[in-house]
Amino acid sequence: MKLARTIEEVRDAVRTARMHGASIGFVPTMGFLHEGHLSLVDVARDAGANFVVVSIFVNPRQFGPNEDFTRYPRDEERDSALLEGANVDLLFLPDVDTMYPRGATTAISVGGVAAPLEGARRPGHFDGVATVVAKLFNIVQPDVAAFGRKDAQQCAVIERLVRDLDLPLRLVFGETIREHDGLAKSSRNSYLDASERAKAPVLHRALRAGEEAITHGIAEVAGIERLMHRVVEEEGGVEVDYLAVVDPSTFEAPADFERELLLAGAVKLGRTRLIDNIRVPRSA
Ligand code: PAF
Repeated sequence: MKLARTIEEVRDAVRTARMHGASIGFVPTMGFLHEGHLSLVDVARDAGANFVVVSIFVNPRQFGPNEDFTRYPRDEERDSALLEGANVDLLFLPDVDTMYPRGATTAISVGGVAAPLEGARRPGHFDGVATVVAKLFNIVQPDVAAFGRKDAQQCAVIERLVRDLDLPLRLVFGETIREHDGLAKSSRNSYLDASERAKAPVLHRALRAGEEAITHGIAEVAGIERLMHRVVEEEGGVEVDYLAVVDPSTFEAPADFERELLLAGAVKLGRTRLIDNIRVPRSA
């Protein structure tokens, strides 16, 4: 695996791979990798990529002032070893000055699907995501880029970005990878102490309860959201940020239950904020 720290190094490596006929796959990450990230390398390969680039960059622009940018977990050595084991071809590890040289002020605001849920609770978050992802796409110029469905709204924001700016690449999405008890794998799970870790699967349980209610014919947003809240309250010690039934094309409340739905949630355990979601296919 090659390592690049500058934009020129990435461009050279990708140019050479292309000259040899490679199709370029890209998996952007913030590091502290887990099976979810590694599965995206396979998702990119399954989509036809035979030269896979992974970036690790903890992007300051997508963290709010009171969020966890400085304490976000970082372990370059462990991440490199995992990517080497996954046969990744190129690891891009830029620093903040490389991505945002002095004077860089341009930002991308996707609007629409970026406004509700995460967008409402984390002002500026999706502008930071869209800006860094657009920059990374311009640097790597992949044929295909892979993102995890655990961040469902991020996937929708990036789809919108690619469509609206006519970015010449294909997006592919990987399913959420879970621990044995249902907790979605996340780099932020490393923040949890033992008692928080024991409580954390309640988020997935609440979403599953909502899903079960829908499959049993309950078609009322408020009732399903109440049910999901109750599951979390019964656990105790977990603060609900939101638990919502949404239309996955808008992330707003659905007009009806005759379409695919998304159950999305965010909870706080101590200082740690976790998100998760479940898609509920259109009922037959
Ligand atoms: O999902 C993430 O890890 C980040 O939001 C991303 C897409 C790498 C942009 O910084």
